[in-house]
Amino acid sequence: AYPNLTPRPPMGWNNWSYYMCDIDEKVILGNARALVKSGLAAKGYDTVTVDDCWMLKQRDARGNLVPDPARFPRGMAYVGRELHRMGLKFGIYEDVGKLTCEKYPGSFGHYQQDADLFAKWKVDYLKMDGCNLPTAPGRTKEQTYQDAYRAVSRALRKTGRDIVFSVSAPAYFQYDGDRVWHQVIRWSSQVGNLWREGRDIAVEKHSGARKWSSIKYNYAYNAKLASFQRPGRWNDPDFLLAGDSGLSTRQIQSQMALWAMMAAPLISSTDLTKISPAALRVLGNRDVIAVDQDPKGVQGRVVQQGPGYDVLSKPLQNGDRAVALFNSGDTPRTLSTTARTAGLPRAGSGRYELRDLVTRRTSRTDGKISVRVPAHATVLYRVRPVR
Ligand code: GLA
Repeated sequence: AYPNLTPRPPMGWNNWSYYMCDIDEKVILGNARALVKSGLAAKGYDTVTVDDCWMLKQRDARGNLVPDPARFPRGMAYVGRELHRMGLKFGIYEDVGKLTCEKYPGSFGHYQQDADLFAKWKVDYLKMDGCNLPTAPGRTKEQTYQDAYRAVSRALRKTGRDIVFSVSAPAYFQYDGDRVWHQVIRWSSQVGNLWREGRDIAVEKHSGARKWSSIKYNYAYNAKLASFQRPGRWNDPDFLLAGDSGLSTRQIQSQMALWAMMAAPLISSTDLTKISPAALRVLGNRDVIAVDQDPKGVQGRVVQQGPGYDVLSKPLQNGDRAVALFNSGDTPRTLSTTARTAGLPRAGSGRYELRDLVTRRTSRTDGKISVRVPAHATVLYRVRPVR
């Protein structure tokens, strides 16, 4: 298996859902500076990934990828140096196919050469997409993808540099039936550290309503994949949209809470140079981040569900449970569960302490957990048995 380079779910920032191809050195380094200045970097958001469109449409005479000089006049090694100087990690995007999704040169036929180039640039994280990979003669689509991702995984190891490997293969099998799709997730978790497995989350130009339904879709989709997650190997339901237009504070808080419950990578994709104090508070909530990053490394599971609501529970290292009550419906309602349903052991005293990780209020209960939840909101508790 690929080495476990991510004992905790990766955290950081990526330009894609906000800027798409509208990127250059200024955008990337400006956001990197904001990541540090806002305090988010110190809270764990440490990897800055340059997504698609950073290169020229042609390789050079030696077959090397060439950074677009109009966007990155000082090259990518420079970007990496600046990120490292800020104490951040350097992530980059490529694709296993002949072309990236935006039709820049893919890595196909150049896996070792590109891995060596990335290592030379001191890349720390590679997001390897899966567009434009033609099925090889005599191989199935699934075998073709497996061959390609295994080859990249080996090439990365051969560089001798520790490069976190984000695999996109499962996203390219989400409509091929559960059997083959699950098989792809299984080998993705061996060849890499994390894997994209569903749809792309909505981008900035989409409406707030579309962003919200995209968050709900990716949540529900990812929640079903809990059995594929193991400590150090992470399902990736795509970016956090906090800071993007059209979403309410409750909605972005819900996304943050749900992603944390699922031990998902926390990768912000917004303009951090202009982010509102409210959105920054959501991304920077230490107690919620601690649920995501808990050393036990287990994806929370849905323990109760009905029309318009879900209850999730996530076991934590110190024996506590994180319990989330998500009102996905459009009207406020009272959601109720019990400590027992959430999987907590019987408390000696018969009582439990509930700490609301957003309001920071603490309360006690004999096991019934019941709360009024506004539309689109998620109440997130840390629950502990009282001795
Ligand atoms: C795919 C990925 C996105 C982004 C784009 C870039 O759609 O899923 O996250 O990387 O490609 O072209």
